[in-house]
Order: sequence, then structure tokens, then C-alpha cells
Amino acid sequence: MKKLIVANWKENPASLKKAISLARQIEKGIVKTGKSEVVIAPPFPFLSAVGKVLKRAKLGAQNVFWEDGGAYTGEVSPSMLKNSGVEYVIIGHSERRKLGETDEMVNKKVKASLKAGLKVILCVGEPAERGLTRTSRGLTRNKKSAKNFVKKQLENDLHDIAFSLRKSALIVAYEPIWAIGSGKPDKPEDTVEMAKFIRSIAGLKAKVLYGGSVTSRNAKSFLQYKEVDGALVGGASLKAEELKKITAIANNANKAQSRI
Ligand code: PGA
Repeated sequence: MKKLIVANWKENPASLKKAISLARQIEKGIVKTGKSEVVIAPPFPFLSAVGKVLKRAKLGAQNVFWEDGGAYTGEVSPSMLKNSGVEYVIIGHSERRKLGETDEMVNKKVKASLKAGLKVILCVGEPAERGLTRTSRGLTRNKKSAKNFVKKQLENDLHDIAFSLRKSALIVAYEPIWAIGSGKPDKPEDTVEMAKFIRSIAGLKAKVLYGGSVTSRNAKSFLQYKEVDGALVGGASLKAEELKKITAIANNANKAQSRI
């Protein structure tokens, strides 16, 4: 199975010119081996222009709305994304949930996007107070509480979505919120355990990515496992050299292990 590397640019870079230049640099660094797939997810205004630059990488969006048109100021529909060359859409990122996106909204977005034929990258992950416990030895992982949190999210976010619809187009990104942008990634062994758990709920064919402070220095420790189907990369994805290294690691990791 191909490893998937998703570049989540968030609200960056500042201009169209910079976005095109970054996309060009990233494209140059991708060696097409058939062993990995790279997705670039720029902000909405840059989608079309970045899409034109991409030949090896695929185009992704960072958000979507569930209605297919009408009086919804500021929203963008799944079919508009498809018509703009978008193949993947990130839904339910913790930074969006923090701004008020609920599981119910995430569920509608996932449903509408899958129906429109987009590949969905559904983000789940627990906050620090559910994933970490302070003990006399410092912070330790509270796996049971983290799993309960993620289970509830998945059940709500995937409510009423048939397995036939999830089968090939659902990707779940496990992103413990405390690991995002903190420079403190999860322990790869804990992510592997969580990936198996997520698959048992979301569907055995779902790809599970890891996200949270992934860099070229730690990518191998996650991607070497067959249970981890790829990475969702934030900060490091704004550096073409970093993404090039991470993609090379994904290509090599795939030589060693494949889940299916
Ligand atoms: P990070 O972000 O790699 O900067 O931690 C990951 C994400 O938010 O998707």
C-alpha cells in the first residue's frame, strides 16, 4: 500500500507568488516511485494555481461545506472542489474544531465529500487532558482515556456513513492535539496501537496517518510501521527540502513493509 504524505499548509504562505514557488520546489523534490503519494493542501485562494503546477503531487483542500450550493456565504461545496481539480479534502482538523466545528458538522462534511467522490482525510485526536496524565515521573500516556475520546469522535463523525462509501476513500489522520506544532510527537509505538484501534472502528480498509510535529528527523520512526499509512505534515511541509526528505523516507519505508 502506498504511503500518503499530506502537506497541510494551513493559513500559509502569505501570497499567491510564494504559494506557486513553494509548490514548484516541492514538485521538483518528489521522485515518483509509485510507493508514495504526496498531497499538497494550500489555502482556498491558491488551489487552482497550485493545482496547475502539480504533476506528481495531488491537490488537497483544508475544508469544505456540506451543501452543494445556495445561500451559504463564504462556503465552498465538494463539487466546487472537485471541479477545481481537488482530489483530497482535510476535514475536522483540531484547529477547526477549536473554532467551533462540531462532530455533527464534521459528519455532514465527510458524508457530502465522500458522495461527491473526494478522498476524505478525517482528523481525530485527543487533547492533552485526555491523552496525558501527570505522575511523579512526569507526563505519561493515558491510552485508555485517549482511545475512548477517539472512539467517540469516530463514531460521531462517521455516523450513518456506509462501509461501502468509506471503503476506498476514507483516510483517518490520528493527530493527538498536544503533539501538533509542539515539537513533541507521539511515541511511534503508541501511534501504532492507536492506528489498529482506529481501523477496528473506521473500517479495516481505512488508511490511518499520523500527524503532529512530523519532521524529516522523526518520519522514519512512524513510517517504518506497516500500520501507519502515512503522515499529515504541518510546519515542516512549508519547507520543500523537508518534504523531499520525508517523501524519500516514505518510499524506502514502503520497500520494507506493506500492510496489504
Ligand atoms: P504540525 O501540524 O506538523 O505542524 O505539528 C500537523 C497538523 O496540524 O496537521
